[in-house]
Amino acid sequence: MKVLGLESSCDETGIAIYDTETGEIWQRLYSQIEKHREYGGVVPELASRDHVVKAAPMIKDILFEFGSLDDIDAIAYTRGPGLTGALMVGASIARGLAWGADKPLLGVHHMEGHLLAPMLSEDKPEFPFVGLLVSGGHTMLVDVRALGDYRILGESLDDAVGEAFDKTAKLLGLPYPGGPELAALADQLNESRFVFPRPMVNRPGLEFSFSGLKTAALNIIHKHQPLDDILRAEICFAFQHAVVDTLRIKCDRALTETGYSRLVVAGGVGANSRLREVLAKLTKDRSGKTYFPAHEYCTDNGVMIAYAGALRLDAGLEDDNVFDVLARWSLEDLDEIPA
Ligand code: KG4
Ligand code: ZN
Repeated sequence: MKVLGLESSCDETGIAIYDTETGEIWQRLYSQIEKHREYGGVVPELASRDHVVKAAPMIKDILFEFGSLDDIDAIAYTRGPGLTGALMVGASIARGLAWGADKPLLGVHHMEGHLLAPMLSEDKPEFPFVGLLVSGGHTMLVDVRALGDYRILGESLDDAVGEAFDKTAKLLGLPYPGGPELAALADQLNESRFVFPRPMVNRPGLEFSFSGLKTAALNIIHKHQPLDDILRAEICFAFQHAVVDTLRIKCDRALTETGYSRLVVAGGVGANSRLREVLAKLTKDRSGKTYFPAHEYCTDNGVMIAYAGALRLDAGLEDDNVFDVLARWSLEDLDEIPA
């Protein structure tokens, strides 16, 4: 089965085709980051408008390389969670294509896309596993028992990890989205004179809270004006160290609680080198293994939507003639995919 996938939940327009038989992938990705940078964050109205402009030509272009829409078996799009207007653009285009070409259509959960992206690698994780989803909008630990069978073990009570990276980077004067830039500065050092708190590690449970780290950074910044490059890098190091350490402690707890040996990391912050290194060591010490998506599939992309959609469509699932998007949508509300 060949599935065309559309991702438009935030500020990336992702279009991809996934062939379930051969594993072949065609893809196009357009990032709107430059458009939003001057505002220091994603402006929803601008995001929707840009998806309108970019999506159709990108689909035309990918189909030109692939062959023809006739050879596509089904269409998948991101139904949620995400920005309503941006989701509506992808949903409208996908619904229009499906009606026009008489193809089955399926709305995909964006976080399921992230969670399954590591399965596109050659070294695929097997079920069950603990999923750590760390993106700009979400931070959660998930008990992944089978395809579509998800139980949320813990979530962030306030800022998502990526959001905490971006907000702290903004306080340090780094351009949006500052996560990767903050990480690059942190990776220049081996130590820092600052120690940030490890939020909520002394309490039982698997919830997270990251907004206090931003405040800790702000207090240090106020005390040390003007900031020089060394100080800035030391703050980045201490911040990243605290975030990664907190995630390590909670992943360790989730693995103990579930009794699983496999950990799967997904979402934009999964690209963080320090996080990759520390979690790989954690599971190695526990005689288990951590699986990561390829760097290009960590952040938002169309391939993960085409792939998650393909697994569901292949199992015979498809949408009725619905046309809706879900800005909020829990992973736990998904149906298990029949084996
Ligand atoms: O999954 P994603 O592309 O979008 C959402 O669905 O949110 O994640 C984007 C987030 C941003 O907050 C970005 O700063 C962060 O992932 N990010 C990183 C790194 N690369 C991306 N954070 C820390 N270190 C990185 N290397
Ligand atoms: Zn995402």
